[in-house]
Order: sequence, then structure tokens, then C-alpha cells
Amino acid sequence: KIQKRDADVWLLRMDRRLPSPSAKELFDAKYEQQNQLGKGGCGSVYGGYRRADNLPVAVKYIPKENVVWTDTNENGQQLSVEVAVMLKLQKEETSSVGKSAPVSLLDWYDLNEEQILVLERPVPAVDLSQFIENNKGPLQENQAKTIVKQLVEAVKHLEDTNIFHRDIKPQNILIETGSEIPQLRVIDFGLSCLTDREYEDGWFYGTEKHAPPEYISKSVYEAGPATVWQVGVVLYEMLHQSLFDSTKFLKNELKIRTDLSPDCKRLLKSCFKRTPWRRPTLKQLQSHPWPTRANTPTADSKFTPSIRASL
Ligand SMILES: Nc1ncnc2c1ncn2[C@@H]1O[C@H](COP(=O)(O)OP(=O)(O)OP(=O)(O)O)[C@@H](O)[C@H]1O
Ligand SMILES: [Mg+2]
Repeated sequence: KIQKRDADVWLLRMDRRLPSPSAKELFDAKYEQQNQLGKGGCGSVYGGYRRADNLPVAVKYIPKENVVWTDTNENGQQLSVEVAVMLKLQKEETSSVGKSAPVSLLDWYDLNEEQILVLERPVPAVDLSQFIENNKGPLQENQAKTIVKQLVEAVKHLEDTNIFHRDIKPQNILIETGSEIPQLRVIDFGLSCLTDREYEDGWFYGTEKHAPPEYISKSVYEAGPATVWQVGVVLYEMLHQSLFDSTKFLKNELKIRTDLSPDCKRLLKSCFKRTPWRRPTLKQLQSHPWPTRANTPTADSKFTPSIRASL
């Protein structure tokens, strides 16, 4: 879709008989790119602004060799899976930009060697791995509860929309820190798939260290139980000093803290059941006593009155 401004620039060039602008020129005319925000396995992400209204944006560059494409649609158009999934999410969303857990896709450009995604950038926000690092140690149980509760709602919504994110982890979660209650946003749909259209093919798309045991032993996994395993990973990393590693956990080299509340330990252990169908479903997690029950001061509790009041 060519925006009116872009169309004006294009017409101006036609007038002057200049070559039509490249996708990169159109991008540069519309956005100002600034500092690097992160570099993942697939590409680099920069902060920036939309020139027209100073809207904060994140600009994600994905080398074409890392882009997974969808089938060509009836108009002969081929979209990357990341774009297709984000568009589907937006289509089914009733609320506007900034109101739903997944960040919005604002724009995208196909260059020769790479694809550029322009994404909503919530401000102020940090990714959850940074949030944990800033905390200089495990989060308090009550803080982790606020985040898990929102995470379960967010991934349940994805499940209901037939979207399997496949890589839920602290680096792919943003925490908006502007309001009293931290708000969770889901990012990085680069490895996601539509569960009603794609089937498992023996590969694990996601973070290998977080692969569920059924993949490690049999190279199979399904959306629901694999996502619940990854919710467990996020909760584990919020409450422990060490990073999660499925193989180490299965060998009993990583332990669940014994000083957590009984409900919290039960929830973690249930997400980490070896047999996928023994794990709770996302629907069951929504009504699990730990996230649903009001907070009680715990042994590790030094939580701030504002967080306590908001729960
Ligand atoms: N919309 C956004 N707003 C703010 N920061 C973002 C946004 N999108 C990404 N980031 C930052 O950039 C990092 C990398 O982004 P993203 O996870 O989308 O890329 P990736 O290359 O696919 O990562 P990986 O290969 O680890 O999955 C994130 O962990 C986050 O810190
Ligand atoms: Mg990522």
C-alpha cells in the first residue's frame, strides 16, 4: 500500500523523470532510524521515529535468507510469515494500537537483501530479560505473578487465533514500565506459524535450550503443551538466578527454589511435566490458584506498596 505522502514523492520524481524511489528511499523518507535496540538470532532492531508525527517505532532488519515466506496468495503476493501472522492478529483485534498484548506491525518494506519491519515501540519499556537484569536478582514472587498472569492471557489469545508463537522467552517479551502495573507486550513473531495451516516437520523452531522434552526425545511438539513449557521457562527465569536449560533441567541439574510459595512451586512443576498431556492447558493455567489468588507476603517479599495495591 503506498501512503499518500509516498505517492506524492513518487509523482514528483515522475515529473522530473527521476528513477522511481527504492523501497529503502521510501523507508528513509518516512522514518528516522536511531540507536540499536537489540540483535537477535535473525536480525537487528533499531529504535526510531515516524517523521510525520514522531511516533516511536522499532525497525527490524531481517536478512532475506532468514525470512520464511508464506504461500503466494490469490493476488500473487507472497508475505513473510512474520508479516502474515502480525497482519492476521491485527485483523482479528478489536482494540487499537497499543491496547493488545502483541505489538503492532505498522509498515514493512522488501529490499533486495533484507526485509524491514516497522513495529510499534512502547515507551518506556524494556525486554523482560533486561527487566530481570535490572532487578539484580530474581523478581519477587508477586511481581512474577503480575507478569505471568498477563503472559497466560496473551498466549491464550494467540491460541484462540490459531497462532503458535514458538519462541516465548524473556527476550521476546516487552515490559512497559510507564504505569503502576507493568504491562506485558509480546514481540518477535519471526518463528511463529499458523496452527491451522502448518504442521510439524521434525524441526524445532525456537530457542533450543527451551525445547520441550518431547522434542528432545522424539522430535515432536504441539502448540499448546510446548507453549505451556515456555510459560514455565519464563516463570523460572524470573524467579531464579540461572538461565533455563531444558536438558539440564531434565537431568536434575537445575532445581526449583524450595522457598517459593506452594502454589507457585506447583504451577512451575506442572508446566515442566515431562509428558506433554500431563501439563495444564492454557485455559487451566488461567484459573490456576497461583496467578488468580491475591498476593500474600512471601518469604522473599520486599515488594513495593504500589505493586501490592495494584494486584
Ligand atoms: N517493538 C519493539 N520495541 C522495542 N524493542 C524491541 C521491539 N522489537 C524488538 N525489540 C528489541 O530487539 C530485540 C530483538 O528483537 P526480536 O526478538 O524481534 O529479533 P530477533 O532477531 O528475531 O531475535 P531472536 O533471534 O532472538 O528471536 C528484542 O529482544 C528487544 O530487546
Ligand atoms: Mg527475539
